[in-house]
Amino acid sequence: MPAASQLKIGVFVGSIRKASVNAQLATALQAFAPTELAFRRIRIDDLPHYNADLDNPAGPAVQRMRQEVRECDALLFVTPEYNRSIPGVLKNAIDWGSRPHHNGAFIGKPAGVIGATPGALGTANAQQHLRNILACLAVATMPQPDAFLQAGPGFFADGGGIANAGTRDFLGQWVACYVQWVRKFSPAA
Ligand code: FNR
Repeated sequence: MPAASQLKIGVFVGSIRKASVNAQLATALQAFAPTELAFRRIRIDDLPHYNADLDNPAGPAVQRMRQEVRECDALLFVTPEYNRSIPGVLKNAIDWGSRPHHNGAFIGKPAGVIGATPGALGTANAQQHLRNILACLAVATMPQPDAFLQAGPGFFADGGGIANAGTRDFLGQWVACYVQWVRKFSPAA
């Protein structure tokens, strides 16, 4: 039974492949968080392509995803960049979560946006696109600090976690800021 002040964090990973660096990053970030945060990965790989004809009523995977989001106090988006934007699979999940219009599951939740790529630009474009999308849903994304991560070979330690001490410190601070951000919306009891 979680403590009264525990926060439920729904984690969206914008990649559904098994060896995703963003999935690894999402796991690594959780290790920096205090125990008052309870993370739950929100599954998106079983959602159909968004089609309004399938939304009356929505199928079980969509209903489950929406319910899981509604149960969360805050969200964490960890995403790769595909062609200078977010992957379609993540946009698809957000589109499902955005309906019914004006009563979508995401409305009013605070969120953090982060991502990793082997490329030099660190998912900066994808993150900016994602912020724009989430603004449309009244999701309050943490404005700063940014975290643009180049995750080449050796980024992750053997057995998980972040290999480089400086990057570990940076991400620890990022997570601390994220906790402060989401706490603004759910003050401790
Ligand atoms: C990419 N990748 C990529 N990387 C980047 O930094 N900017 C980009 O615009 C793109 N575009 C892109 C499009 C498509 C269709 C693919 C498949 C890949 C490379 C991408 O960052 C790399 O494959 C990551 O490893 C994907 O993240 P996961 O799956 O490892 O989390």
